[in-house]
Amino acid sequence: MTEAPPLLSLRLSVDYRNKTEVLRDVAIELRQGEILGLVGESGSGKSTLSLAILRLLHLKGGTARGDLFFKGQDLSAKTEAQMRLLSGREISIVLQSPLSSLNPALRLGSQLSEAWRAHATGTREECASVSLPNDSDFLRRRSSQLSVGQAQRVIIAMAILHRPSLLIADEPTSALDTITQSEILRLFAQLNRDLGMGILYISHDLLSVAALCHRIAILNAGQILECGPPAQIFGAPQHVYTQKLVAALPRGPFLDFHSDKLATPAPSDDRDGCAKRSDDSSIPDQIPSIVR
Ligand SMILES: Nc1ncnc2c1ncn2[C@@H]1O[C@H](COP(=O)(O)OP(=O)(O)OP(=O)(O)O)[C@@H](O)[C@H]1O
Ligand SMILES: [Mg+2]
Repeated sequence: MTEAPPLLSLRLSVDYRNKTEVLRDVAIELRQGEILGLVGESGSGKSTLSLAILRLLHLKGGTARGDLFFKGQDLSAKTEAQMRLLSGREISIVLQSPLSSLNPALRLGSQLSEAWRAHATGTREECASVSLPNDSDFLRRRSSQLSVGQAQRVIIAMAILHRPSLLIADEPTSALDTITQSEILRLFAQLNRDLGMGILYISHDLLSVAALCHRIAILNAGQILECGPPAQIFGAPQHVYTQKLVAALPRGPFLDFHSDKLATPAPSDDRDGCAKRSDDSSIPDQIPSIVR
């Protein structure tokens, strides 16, 4: 029996018109149902990579070279029309600023049903999976009458209407307060668990990524330095940059969004890399539910 192809598999280099080599031979593999964290400081190329996956770089004057496969299909060979069909249905994106992604003039109910009509078949009740109030009072509101956290849930509801198999979340919590951030991260963990949704979770916050993701890729100045499960990144970081990143973190337990409890990262010999599947039996006891 042949193994299912990865959900996403890429090796890309990107240039902008007036800035070359913004991404240099960046290789990533994301398996079906996996949450892969992409961590890097501001300007390292995270959003550039998400735009490259959606083939939208031309909107910013950028071009990509290399390989880009989604479920074994060559995305770089698709026409713009074929990409439009795929975006929103099979691959969705959630961005950093929820309020600017919503139309301020439209009521929420209209925006949700518009997103629905733009793409789909199915029922609107699926929006309840993001824990938004479902009553007509709420749906009559406009985006200016929402908290930023509620607006982000509306955006996520629209992004998952069609049960995409890949959700790209580009710093989705950086505009939110700490408690709302936790709620949104818990929601991503739930979507992954309940719907088997693969998620590329982009952030500069290594701790939240560790709590949510099965594996973490470290991006610096347009290059992936290393990639592995949280136990490796925290316990045995291989690259000096990652070692500095981990050493700079506050000590103490952190939240585990898959089990809603506190967990403590611990040293480990697990050297599972990007190209190899995580083996549950090799996960140390100290952070069991992060990876399971
Ligand atoms: N349209 C553009 N033309 C030229 N350079 C660009 C363009 N867009 C981004 N860049 C540059 O490419 C690099 C990567 O930008 P990108 O937005 O991907 O970073 P990022 O990791 O998402 O940062 P942040 O965490 O601040 O969102 C930066 O140096 C940025 O200045
Ligand atoms: Mg960005």
